[in-house]
Amino acid sequence: MKKTILGLTIMVVAAAMVAAFSSPASAAVTGVCSDCHTMHNSQGGSGMEISGTGPFSTLLRGSCAGCHAQGTENHVEGSIPQVYHTSGTNLAGGNFGYIDATVGSGASDTKGHNVICIDADITGDANLSAPPGDEFTTGIASGASSPDFTCAGEKGCHGNRATADEAASVSGAHHGDDTTIDGNSVATSYRFLLGVLGVENNGANPWRNITGGDHNKYQGADKGDTQDTSLGKTNPGDAGTISGLCGECHGDFHGTGVDGMGTASGTWIRHPTDILLPNTVPYSGYNPVTNFDATVPVAYTVPGTPARLQAVVMCLSCHGVHGTDYTDILRWDYTGISAGGGESTTGCFRCHMDKD
Ligand code: HEC
Ligand code: HEC
Ligand code: HEC
Ligand code: HEC
Ligand code: HEC
Repeated sequence: MKKTILGLTIMVVAAAMVAAFSSPASAAVTGVCSDCHTMHNSQGGSGMEISGTGPFSTLLRGSCAGCHAQGTENHVEGSIPQVYHTSGTNLAGGNFGYIDATVGSGASDTKGHNVICIDADITGDANLSAPPGDEFTTGIASGASSPDFTCAGEKGCHGNRATADEAASVSGAHHGDDTTIDGNSVATSYRFLLGVLGVENNGANPWRNITGGDHNKYQGADKGDTQDTSLGKTNPGDAGTISGLCGECHGDFHGTGVDGMGTASGTWIRHPTDILLPNTVPYSGYNPVTNFDATVPVAYTVPGTPARLQAVVMCLSCHGVHGTDYTDILRWDYTGISAGGGESTTGCFRCHMDKD
């Protein structure tokens, strides 16, 4: 009897130690159910919405924007990543607030993806009625009249892009165990982008790209001219790269052929992505492993163990994704980047060091 109790005690202590000493098992949501869910959307006769008008799908107290676009940086209880806020530090994807001048130097539809799910001030893109380079015919209407470009689902970026309904397309993801990012489900894909791999920054500054040791690590590939044979409307390609995700809607800008980017120096017809950043002059001047520049991030073929020889040029080396303060959602002011203009490491010059 004594032996059994001792055995049990050891097991309990061992279990407690595992819980105490291992890193968080996953980045699944935590907290009391009523922080986020409401059974009837009614308490004392009043609605339970965080914002907007309910009831909402999955018995939630808000839409995607109700939780993720609260207007302030306020990461409620440190746990809800914000993508539309007036001040403070932006997360890695940027801030939709640049589009409608909630933040930044002035409103412009060219400063972000004009998804209709964020705020009533963001009502489609005055210039673009569909994704530029829409090789796979996404059917997304993004113009100023009747836009249907959303955060998730078949007309958005997050969740399962084969599922029409926005809420249904992420179902199960928020409570899912994402300890292993394998791209097989929405929960276990990089930032709920189905099929995309990578290493999420879930540390002290979650969702941010800050310094060498403190940033998301994006999946890239060294595909050469065999690039993206499986890239399609709902598939980022066999290597699960972040640039492949962009290719689902902007396919002509990725991959090979006339509808793509070419195959090698001298034959590039669009700026290459998912190619290695050469470690020869001039490119060897940028070592993102030892000298990370958050305004020119790179991907890696093995993001779990970033190495200079495996650094990859990606769409996000030049672009933000939710919103930035610059035209074409660029990470820097392209109009200020001039050949022969003097010493600079901004934007293009970070890699093309010999052109300043
Ligand atoms: C911090 C916010 C948050 C808290 C706290 C929370 N949930 Fe959720 N839950 C969500 C969101 C967001 C969704 C919808 C999106 C999704 O499924 O990823 C969801 C989806 C669900 C679903 C349907 C999808 C699935 O994973 O099965 C169930 C059931 C659910 N929650 C139950 C609960 C219960 C029970 C609690 C309390 C023990 C709880 N939730 C606490 C945010 C939360
Ligand atoms: C009730 C509040 C709530 C709603 C509604 C909600 N989310 Fe979330 N979401 C959260 C919380 C909390 C987290 C942080 C979970 C964590 O710790 O990773 C989160 C995390 C995320 C992440 C980051 C996942 C990661 O890998 O870190 C994405 C992407 C996301 N949500 C997308 C959505 C989309 C798209 C919708 C609408 C379909 C939505 N959310 C609706 C509360 C919500
Ligand atoms: C679900 C489809 C979809 C995906 C995935 C997608 N985009 Fe877009 N993108 C669009 C649409 C629609 C537009 C045009 C409307 C707009 O700009 O709001 C657009 C416009 C753009 C623009 C031009 C912005 C402007 O207003 O001038 C850039 C730059 C861009 N996307 C970059 C990217 C990058 C980089 C990725 C990958 C991280 C990506 N996109 C992924 C649909 C998508
Ligand atoms: C080397 C930097 C760089 C990379 C890498 C890059 N872009 Fe761009 N992108 C730009 C610049 C600069 C523009 C402005 C227009 C131009 O110069 O063609 C732009 C414009 C765009 C536009 C707007 C086109 C329009 O008609 O308004 C889209 C969409 C876009 N890029 C998507 C992508 C996607 C998707 C990828 C990856 C497959 C990508 N970009 C990779 C620099 C880059
Ligand atoms: C993350 C690094 C990186 C950034 C940032 C970058 N490039 Fe590139 N660029 C490359 C690499 C790598 C190649 C391919 C070189 C090769 O094939 O030899 C390339 C190719 C090119 C080419 C075609 C060269 C050829 O040999 O055919 C041009 C032109 C170019 N880039 C211009 C730009 C401009 C303009 C910008 C800024 C808007 C920019 N690049 C930003 C890495 C970068």
